[in-house]
Amino acid sequence: MAYVVQPMVLDDVEEVSRVETECFTTPWPINAYRRELRENRLSKYLVLRWSSSDGRRVETNVGSAAAGDPLAGMRRAVSQLLRPFGVGDQPRSTLPSILGFAGLWLMFDEAHITTIGVRRTVRGLGLGELLLVNLVESARELGANRLTLEVRVSNHVAQSLYRKYTFKEEGVRKRYYSDNGEDALIMWSDRIDAPAFVDTFRVLRTELDRKIAALSAPIVESRV
Ligand SMILES: CC(C)(COP(=O)(O)OP(=O)(O)OC[C@H]1O[C@@H](n2cnc3c(N)ncnc32)[C@H](O)[C@@H]1OP(=O)(O)O)[C@@H](O)C(=O)NCCC(=O)NCCS
Repeated sequence: MAYVVQPMVLDDVEEVSRVETECFTTPWPINAYRRELRENRLSKYLVLRWSSSDGRRVETNVGSAAAGDPLAGMRRAVSQLLRPFGVGDQPRSTLPSILGFAGLWLMFDEAHITTIGVRRTVRGLGLGELLLVNLVESARELGANRLTLEVRVSNHVAQSLYRKYTFKEEGVRKRYYSDNGEDALIMWSDRIDAPAFVDTFRVLRTELDRKIAALSAPIVESRV
């Protein structure tokens, strides 16, 4: 079992939307993701899963409950009854499989990061960074030279993540966020084909891979 990043597919969209509501006060309408996946050839969307190491999805009771599994309630009750005896407590069976998501648009030779988010209960473990490095790699594959994004001036956690990967503030969009009129910082990475970036990226990626490999199974609250 491992944390894996995979291309987002249409079947992922409902779960991505649920994760997104944990991340943003103004999430995208669910159809926006569907449209992006179906129609936007210049976009790339990723999901982060706790998955079998060969990339296969972990089947979860969450999925079957959402699909109307009539035995889900009974299974949950049995699991609760057995918990004091250390039996029936099967965290993997109640895991939502998607823990984070991210996306970008290619505009000429610039990759615009449109979204990135991680479930609240698994933040601070390196998973947001894992998504970002995958976005950088996707941007490189698509032929981008630099990455750019907007971030709330108050979002110091995300800014810190971006700064780690050479992003710097190059402008402000006044009152960019409609929910509270907050300004956005416009941040740009260094050129991702520059030798200095390539070296820094390689070092950070190696450290991150080590950190992620040492993580155990994610602990997330059950939605069953
Ligand atoms: C931003 C977000 C994706 C970061 O994901 P994460 O998994 O929590 O972050 P990671 O554990 O991978 O940390 C990577 C870096 O982020 C920064 N960071 C993470 N948590 C932080 C904290 N509590 N305080 C300050 N910086 C922090 C650090 O630079 C960290 O690098 P380090 O480990 O070398 O210190 C996540 O907080 C999130 O989903 N937030 C809500 C959605 C959002 O704001 N998205 C960005 C929109 S622009």
